[in-house]
Amino acid sequence: MTSRIIATGPDGYFVARDLESRARSPEPGGPSLTGDTRPNTLQITAATPSAPGVGAAPRFREYADPDERSWLRCRVLGFLDTTYFDDVWPTRPAPAPGLSLVAVSGDDVVAICDASLAEHGATIDTVVVHPDHRRTGLAGALLDELVRRLKARGITRLDAWTRDDPGTRAWYEASGFEVGYRYLHVYVTGVDEMADAVQAQVGLEPRSGFFHADTQDPGVEADLRRRFRRVHACHRFVRDL
Ligand SMILES: CC(C)(COP(=O)(O)OP(=O)(O)OC[C@H]1O[C@@H](n2cnc3c(N)ncnc32)[C@H](O)[C@@H]1OP(=O)(O)O)[C@@H](O)C(=O)NCCC(=O)NCCS
Repeated sequence: MTSRIIATGPDGYFVARDLESRARSPEPGGPSLTGDTRPNTLQITAATPSAPGVGAAPRFREYADPDERSWLRCRVLGFLDTTYFDDVWPTRPAPAPGLSLVAVSGDDVVAICDASLAEHGATIDTVVVHPDHRRTGLAGALLDELVRRLKARGITRLDAWTRDDPGTRAWYEASGFEVGYRYLHVYVTGVDEMADAVQAQVGLEPRSGFFHADTQDPGVEADLRRRFRRVHACHRFVRDL
């Protein structure tokens, strides 16, 4: 599903056309979506009564400093059912030069899309949607706006590094990205695994560690997966703009 950004209002919010059509044609059993007649807003009523911002209208704009707490909550909740479940930030790090977009429902951030910029390309640092707001096109709408802004700056390539979570892979593939490279993230936990992975230095007993294994050899990968319980493939997804 690809959304198209159709307007940026004077207040800095922008709107996605395909979200409007979803809003007018809710899927049976899915969230109840109701289109708003105003030009730059969209009414969405989430299916889960406890969802943040229930009944409010998810809208799209740039991140602002007062969003920080809500942004962190959205990020951690969105990562909970993924291999990034323990990648928790108590504060939002100062971003690299780039673009930071959010979808907000009321005062709550419900989707995030951050990208950092280099001379000829950009990298998605974070894309995450609050679990109660998934499959309603929010990530697609934020990506469309990100791509529009990158193209306006003459950037021709967008990439992202992410692990092997099936839903995330499916979203990147549905969004026009292809896998360009792959390596392994190896988490080493417990005395036995650590003894297998590293040698202790004076006075230090290693208890856990995180390693990159830059291998394309299936035999090496199989051996690492046999020796260590938590191994993730990390993929570089690439899309020409
Ligand atoms: C990946 C993620 C951002 C997608 O957000 P989303 O707003 O739910 O995605 P969209 O509604 O834009 O999905 C667009 C299309 O992508 C595909 N897609 C998205 N999520 C999918 C899933 N879980 N399973 C299969 N396909 C999926 C579908 O083709 C979908 O279209 P459809 O709903 O019409 O079938 C969201 O699931 C998420 O936050 N995941 C956890 C965070 C994460 O791992 N981020 C990457 C590391 S930074």
